[in-house]
Amino acid sequence: MDKLVIRGGNRLSGRVTASGSKNSSLPVIAATLLVGEGRFTLHRIPDLQDIRTFTGLLDHLGTETSFSDNTLTVSAENVESILAPYELVKKMRASIYVLGPLLARFGEARVSLPGGCAFGPRPIDLHLMAMEKLGAEISIETGFIRAKAKKGKLQGGCIDFPISSVGATGNALMAAVLAEGTTTLVNAAAEPEIETLCRFLSAMGAHIEGTGTTELRIEGVDRLRAVEFTNVFDRIEAGTLLAAAAITKGSITLDGVEPLQLRSVLKKFSLAGCDVTHSDQSVTLESPETLRATSVTAKPYPSFPTDMQAQWTALMTQAEGVSRITDKVYHERFNHIPELNRLGAHIDILKNQAVVHGPRKLSGTKVMSTDLRASACLVLAGLVADGVTEVLRVYHLDRGYEKIEEKLSGLGAEISREKYQEFI
Ligand code: EPZ
Repeated sequence: MDKLVIRGGNRLSGRVTASGSKNSSLPVIAATLLVGEGRFTLHRIPDLQDIRTFTGLLDHLGTETSFSDNTLTVSAENVESILAPYELVKKMRASIYVLGPLLARFGEARVSLPGGCAFGPRPIDLHLMAMEKLGAEISIETGFIRAKAKKGKLQGGCIDFPISSVGATGNALMAAVLAEGTTTLVNAAAEPEIETLCRFLSAMGAHIEGTGTTELRIEGVDRLRAVEFTNVFDRIEAGTLLAAAAITKGSITLDGVEPLQLRSVLKKFSLAGCDVTHSDQSVTLESPETLRATSVTAKPYPSFPTDMQAQWTALMTQAEGVSRITDKVYHERFNHIPELNRLGAHIDILKNQAVVHGPRKLSGTKVMSTDLRASACLVLAGLVADGVTEVLRVYHLDRGYEKIEEKLSGLGAEISREKYQEFI
């Protein structure tokens, strides 16, 4: 296995470019299944394990994919299988994204139920509800979701989501674009990843009104076409790199971003005392000598993202005062707290809220990644800890951060990747 070895204490400085978004690449890649003719060319796809896992699943269904220099080409002409097996689905929960497109194109799909998750329950009931509203019959048999369009083809309908769900909105969109008639999505997720999917589907010939809002109206069409498309930047990677600058009292410029999509996070950096400026496509952050404690509550977009709260917690260990971190999306997403405390942080968990007492001097040791964002949080802590921090099980981090050690060492961090043997 790989670990990251970090010698803390260097102030980060310089310029770095954000990679393409992982969480928008996945539904975009899934949507290629909707088209039985031609080849898609997708640019700015990050070179990450999750992308390879997902294209592996699509290839199993019959697509032909090729990936180099962040460009993915996909042809779904020869897809015949509608079965997503357990062996591939268990590797990544986002595999559920093949449900909507398969059902829309072939009138049926069989997708293995995704497994559990490192940070609490992550049900899929809203995905299934959405498919039912579009005229699918759903049953769960031998660990598989079996979905079949009752009339052979999906029918437009009204889907009113009781809570905002990125994945269920994405699946509903991909199913509705080829359904007969009109579909309305109420309380749809408005995350940039969904906006990107809407833009992609529209470029393919779908009729979607309300892109970027929580109410989407989709007029089904008979067929869509393969197109060339450029993915959006990764707003969570961007926020993590800015946090790396802030925690090390550094100063960096981040290129290739759309600052508007980062506004909730940038606002918190400003409140914490950072000097944040931006132009059309870049953000510059200069950290103060002393950060101010700043509480955050993670909620759906445009609020502060749940995928940034662990990294924010790491940052707040260095801020003066008490900050409270609440996650209203995943109430139990606090696996990183015991590891941060092992590094010397003082964080209590009270009623689903992390209470961070700062600033605290952190000192390096071995810490264990438990999920993607928890790993990012430990890397940030390692950048400021005294001595050497070893972040073990770094495969979690590799799922979502492209060339992370290259990017951080380019900014002046002392970080390297080493092999190690885990004793079980
Ligand atoms: C996406 O997951 C992201 N994953 C997650 O990023 C992110 O944390 C999450 O959205 C929230 O922003 C991908 O895009 C691949 P949800 P998703 O459906 O779509 C509940 C990362 O670190 N819910 O928006 O699975 C759910 O439990 C990852 O990159 C239901 O109750 O999240 C949660 O409380 C991890 N029933 C809330 O909705 C359902 O059927 C929002 O989840 C679906 C979700």
